[in-house]
Amino acid sequence: DLRCIVTGAASGIGHAVAEQLLKGGAEVTSLDRNEPSASVQRHLTVDLADPDSIDTCVHELGGGWDALINVAGVPGTAPAELVFKVNFLGLRHLTESLFGRFNTGGAIVNVSSTAGFQWSERLGQHRDLITTDSFHAGLQWYRDNPHDGNAYNFAKEAVTVYTMAMGTGLAAEGLRMNAVLPGPVNTPILPDFETSMGKDTLDGVKFLLGRHAEPDDIAPAAAFLASPESRWINGHPLVVDGGITGAVLTGLV
Ligand code: NAI
Repeated sequence: DLRCIVTGAASGIGHAVAEQLLKGGAEVTSLDRNEPSASVQRHLTVDLADPDSIDTCVHELGGGWDALINVAGVPGTAPAELVFKVNFLGLRHLTESLFGRFNTGGAIVNVSSTAGFQWSERLGQHRDLITTDSFHAGLQWYRDNPHDGNAYNFAKEAVTVYTMAMGTGLAAEGLRMNAVLPGPVNTPILPDFETSMGKDTLDGVKFLLGRHAEPDDIAPAAAFLASPESRWINGHPLVVDGGITGAVLTGLV
């Protein structure tokens, strides 16, 4: 049975991922600032915006892990630095602090977003950013390097680029890293996306598909990438959006 860590398991997509893994017989430890609603075996409270809190949590976690699924995140309505800390720097700090504590064949799955689909337009900046070697250095880089657009999209682009860049390096250690990129999902933060991205944009997406995704539409993809069945998939950003990205990239919407 897989021993998994799921961040963000107290709500939305993280809750669904935890339930999906439990259904498949995995043992799940939740990391969240809030108590999880899923019936996980263990919960540790952590603030992913704070590297000291992450370090304390990692110390308590010990080793022998098969998968880390990084789901926790805050929407773009939160202050920009908080968004960047939780959605990228905290995710990276937790992940890299756990290196050496995974079993061979271990998998890391990051929940990014289709909101980061323009990562290639700022690849130079993202390459620079991921060469910073700590939470604090990454935050300093963020303060020193203004970017176009909003913090949410930028952080999600960073997660996608980081995931793609890490794959082969981790293979030498018997680990893999992949990402899931959902489009709009019906969770408590969906109204925040209406504020930050515009209600018309979200309504347009909903109109094309007939509905928004539910967390249960996303969870199986994350569970698959966390499982040994996906062993040859590495450094891959898996879009799970009902087809919207394909339509946008081909200019059909
Ligand atoms: P949610 O608000 O339902 O769940 C987010 C979870 O992260 C909560 O349990 C919250 O307590 C936890 N969290 C937030 N800040 C934290 C911190 N500083 N330390 C520890 N835990 C913290 O949101 P949802 O929709 O389930 O989002 C999950 C992930 O999916 C996020 O990374 C989000 O960016 C991403 N996503 C969501 C989409 C959507 O439309 N809902 C679309 C694409 C990506």
